[in-house]
Amino acid sequence: MKIIRTPREMQQAAQALRRAGKTIGFVPTMGFLHEGHLSLIRIARERADVLVASIFVNPTQFGPGEDLDAYPRDFERDERLCCEEGVDLLFYPTPETMYLEGHSTWVEEEALSGMLCGAARPVHFRGVCTVVTKLLNLVLPDFMVLGEKDAQQLRVLRRMVRNLNIPVDVVSGPTVREADGLAMSSRNKYLSPEERKEAICLFQGLGKAKEQFSAGERSADVLTASVRDVIEKTSGTIDYIEVVDDENLQRIKVLEKPALIALAVKFSGVRLIDNAVLGK
Ligand code: PAF
Repeated sequence: MKIIRTPREMQQAAQALRRAGKTIGFVPTMGFLHEGHLSLIRIARERADVLVASIFVNPTQFGPGEDLDAYPRDFERDERLCCEEGVDLLFYPTPETMYLEGHSTWVEEEALSGMLCGAARPVHFRGVCTVVTKLLNLVLPDFMVLGEKDAQQLRVLRRMVRNLNIPVDVVSGPTVREADGLAMSSRNKYLSPEERKEAICLFQGLGKAKEQFSAGERSADVLTASVRDVIEKTSGTIDYIEVVDDENLQRIKVLEKPALIALAVKFSGVRLIDNAVLGK
């Protein structure tokens, strides 16, 4: 596995691979890898001649007061895991080389970015769209693999790729969970032992909503209320629980076509998200 640290070197390597007719698969990450990331890397490994992963804690997707500085990092461990999973090129740039002085160009998706996580994190998806566009221009992949845990991010990036005619296939991989159901996340490590136990309430709440949906319940209010009941028994603070159209992320009252039930809950500053698709 080769580690590439500058955007220029990454782009030159990618151009050479494309000229040689290789299929490039790409998994963008912010590092501190867990089984969720590794499952995406394995999906990409199966289909690509050359597998590129990136590790970059992107400063522009964190708002003021968010956890940019505290975001967990462990490059040595990430490097070892990537190597074990068969990553060929590991792109590990610095913020200074990714955002040169005078950076003033942004990619903004306007229809799906303002709701759910975007309501509480107003610059988040602008940062995600900008950095992913930059990464795609550097890695030149045939396909990129994203996790379904970040449901809104997946939909925003699919829309961006379509709107901007970016020549890349977006492939998604299912959420990987701990044995008790908690969705894997780099942020889980900041939960206290007590909060870690309580944090399965996201999964349990979604499970309850899924059961009700299977039993025929179609009212978004009823479904969100039962998730709320489960969360409110814990010390978690609800940021949002919403039922939205699976494609356009608009709030819906009655579930008639595939819907996404998504939630964000904070445990003393640690913000966890999870979701389920209903009716697909
Ligand atoms: O999901 C993430 O880890 C990040 O948002 C991404 C897609 C790597 C962009 O920084």
